[in-house]
Amino acid sequence: MHKKNEPKAPDILPVPRTKEEAKRSYDRLSRYYDYLTWVYERKYTETALGRLAVSEGETVLEIGFGTGHCLKRIAESVGPKGTAYGIDISTGMMEISKERLEKAGLENRVKLFCGDAANLPFDESMFDAVFMSFTLELFDTPEIPKVLEQIKRALKPEGRLVVVSMSKENGKSIFLRFYEWFHNKWPKYVDCRPIYVERSLREAGYTVKSKERVKLFRLPGEIVVAVNPISGKMV
Ligand SMILES: C[S@@+](CC[C@H](N)C(=O)[O-])C[C@H]1O[C@@H](n2cnc3c(N)ncnc32)[C@H](O)[C@@H]1O
Repeated sequence: MHKKNEPKAPDILPVPRTKEEAKRSYDRLSRYYDYLTWVYERKYTETALGRLAVSEGETVLEIGFGTGHCLKRIAESVGPKGTAYGIDISTGMMEISKERLEKAGLENRVKLFCGDAANLPFDESMFDAVFMSFTLELFDTPEIPKVLEQIKRALKPEGRLVVVSMSKENGKSIFLRFYEWFHNKWPKYVDCRPIYVERSLREAGYTVKSKERVKLFRLPGEIVVAVNPISGKMV
């Protein structure tokens, strides 16, 4: 399902870090994470949450919820009749999110799981919507289609998936190449790397509804809204 003129072999950098190393790194980062990232990522996570358009009573999953800012917003939007689920590999992140949700009095409508999103512990067709913010780009290239397949299985037919991520589109940007040099040199520390978001979703069988290109400082990003097509109906 490649579009004409798209390079066939994606030139996405590998992620050599193990899951255990990822967990340890985010456990260590959890107390400082908001100071390091929230200011410049907030604008885009807010836009992406708007695109997710969560309604009252829905069941919504966030993958890689980090310090829980978006999960709190999702829990507010689903209201008392809905449920927000979150899965994150880091126990440190889970503790911070728990504190945030308890402080907001929202803990009763949120279910938190600690684990690897490459193996989602959820039933088939369980979610109205799934949200991923700066997390899909942490999975190694062969794992991305597997994660997207797992999400598709857990989504209801016509359920929404919104992904905000660093993007490999506009791969000629000098800033992107500079960033990728850092990722190559210190992949355990500069862990996110740009990926093709829209293309990955299309290849995984989603129907892409919209794509926005954004700038994270000078680095390209994508916000993609997709839906899980009703079985057999590909668009
Ligand atoms: C870059 S942070 C983004 C956090 C949050 N979504 C945000 O936008 O602020 C990535 C998050 O994904 C989690 N994560 C990394 N690898 C994961 C995996 N394999 N399964 C589940 N969560 C993972 C990390 O612990 C971290 O909380």
